[in-house]
Amino acid sequence: MSIAILIQEERFRDKWAAAFKALAPEVDFRVWPELGALEDIDFVVAWRPPEGMLASLPNLKAIHSIGAGVNYIFEDKNLPNVPVLRVVDERLTNDMAQFVSYAVLNHFLNAKQYRNAEKDHLWRPSHPLSSETTVGILGLGEMGAHTANVLQQLHFKVIGYSRSPKDNLPFDTFHGENNLSQFLKLTDILVCLLPLTKHTENILNKDLFYKLKKNAYVINVGRGNHLVEQDLINAIDDGQLSGAFLDVFSVEPLPLAHPFWQHEKITITPHVASQTVPARACQLILANYARLQRGESLLHQVDLTKGY
Ligand code: NDP
Ligand code: OXD
Repeated sequence: MSIAILIQEERFRDKWAAAFKALAPEVDFRVWPELGALEDIDFVVAWRPPEGMLASLPNLKAIHSIGAGVNYIFEDKNLPNVPVLRVVDERLTNDMAQFVSYAVLNHFLNAKQYRNAEKDHLWRPSHPLSSETTVGILGLGEMGAHTANVLQQLHFKVIGYSRSPKDNLPFDTFHGENNLSQFLKLTDILVCLLPLTKHTENILNKDLFYKLKKNAYVINVGRGNHLVEQDLINAIDDGQLSGAFLDVFSVEPLPLAHPFWQHEKITITPHVASQTVPARACQLILANYARLQRGESLLHQVDLTKGY
């Protein structure tokens, strides 16, 4: 049987194919678009698979995302009814917590202002925000819960929001749509660590921004389509938000003419908050493939009804 690598973006495809082949030279990997006989393929590793391709594989048994997120797989309207798996890795979780801490501290300690002052040789001290600053984390899964712990160790007040109740976390948590407003009105710095689903698409919108504390700051490391871009710009220009730190965008790479590049209160990074390292993720993915072949239960299965 064979593993198909279905990654449309050339910039990712070659390095993932090379990493898989180096690790398991005995496995028959088929790299899209050169898939050969489709009935040979029983396992797919994917990022943004070509629309309809998955449904054309008659012996497909499971689909594995090469990342933690699976939204690009669920975008396929003809997704076959087989298990969808994702990468869960301590290193990814730690990297995310470090990155979000950097984004929070960058804002909290006025780092951008000092970088600008330094360029102009200006000695211009300012006070950080109050130590009472509350970081509100949207999404308390693998990444969100650990990020919250790390921010607590940095002495931030942390609160969290998820879909289902969390009774065992060492900070205040809120769940369900009815409690979202209560969570938002306590939040100074909002971190989006949600998966992208039909319930979370466009969740970072005008309505939400005006429920946050005045001058709140928004950090989005989830997915670009969580954000209504023009609503963010308006809320910043209107003084409701003090700014934003964005790592993910609805179109990536972010187009050169996009207004986010120019906005002095928006900081941009190129989808690097927590990057899967192919050599490491390939091991986890191949271990799951070996479990499939041995008829064992598969790790890190996504709930097909929830979409994450
Ligand atoms: P998990 O699936 O482990 O956690 C998702 C969390 O979001 C859960 O707490 C879940 O609630 C909550 N949630 C889902 N839907 C809703 C909703 N409608 N309302 C409220 N809460 C909701 O995901 P991870 O923590 O592993 O990853 C989160 C996302 O981070 C990924 O999906 C990906 O998009 C993004 N990511 C970004 C990276 C980057 O480099 N920028 C790198 C890696 C991931 P509950 O606990 O109740 O189920
Ligand atoms: C992921 C990502 O989902 O890198 O792993 O965004």
